[in-house]
Amino acid sequence: MTERRTALVTGATAGIGAAFARELAAEGHALVLVARDRERLAGLAEELPVPVEVLPADLATAEGCDAVAARLADPARPIDLLVNNAGRSLNRSFLRSSVEAEEELLRLNVHAVMRLTLAALPPMVERGRGDIVNVSSVAGFASLSPGSTYPASKAWVTSFSESQAQLVRRKGVRVMALCPGYTRTEFHERAGIDVSRSPSWLWLDARAVVRDGLRDLRRGRMVSVPDWKYKLAVFGMRHAPRGLLQRASRDSRGRIGHEDR
Ligand SMILES: NC(=O)c1ccc[n+]([C@@H]2O[C@H](COP(=O)([O-])OP(=O)(O)OC[C@H]3O[C@@H](n4cnc5c(N)ncnc54)[C@H](OP(=O)(O)O)[C@@H]3O)[C@@H](O)[C@H]2O)c1
Repeated sequence: MTERRTALVTGATAGIGAAFARELAAEGHALVLVARDRERLAGLAEELPVPVEVLPADLATAEGCDAVAARLADPARPIDLLVNNAGRSLNRSFLRSSVEAEEELLRLNVHAVMRLTLAALPPMVERGRGDIVNVSSVAGFASLSPGSTYPASKAWVTSFSESQAQLVRRKGVRVMALCPGYTRTEFHERAGIDVSRSPSWLWLDARAVVRDGLRDLRRGRMVSVPDWKYKLAVFGMRHAPRGLLQRASRDSRGRIGHEDR
């Protein structure tokens, strides 16, 4: 009988995180599910046909990060796969933002990813096996939403993941940044971003994003961009002249429903 592996998924109550939980459960992983909403976590745990531990935590706080970091570093209950997925955006001009809102975004999108990776990676290297998927975004490849700090947070996640991936790749451990484009989840509604005028062909399905991501992880990719249209977009974002990108960003303002900047 093969040994059951354990995955810890943050932001597991909705969207891409819930899709990770379902896909990994279908593969037979035991799960540790993290998010703030205890009841939603328990509901998902009941639905899944594998052993599930729920770990309610607010990853924008030091206490929340400490609790999840302690679980990740517990030598008696090793985690084989960490999915740092919880993340958020803001829908406001930086000129009208607050220190509190910007710090909360950085604590969740950046600090928690660093903190949990630092808790999980050394024991994985010691064991000579383990995987970490950090959910980033195509938004991190260029600043196409003037004034939004979300792309900068995701640029950090992608760069950080690639750097750690290179550090540990010969030690039996894989780290990958998963960079989806627009995906149907609760993300935009939570941020108050109106996407009603965005064309349907832009949108990805969370389950397909997760399947592409897991396939790329197992192929040894350090950065995964699901779907051919977003692969093309990222190629453009990486290679087009900055001036052209800045003009495209000006022309597309308002189309995806960001608040007036
Ligand atoms: N949807 C997209 O178009 C898109 C595109 C590119 C990248 N992404 C990235 O994909 C990741 C997942 O987003 P999603 O689209 O699946 O969003 P979502 O549907 O809004 O789900 C977000 C998840 O994160 C949890 N969460 C939020 N704040 C948290 C906190 N402070 N502490 C712990 N958990 C928290 C939420 O649960 P609770 O409310 O219960 O805490 C929920 O489970 C994010 O990193 C996002 O930046 C999304």
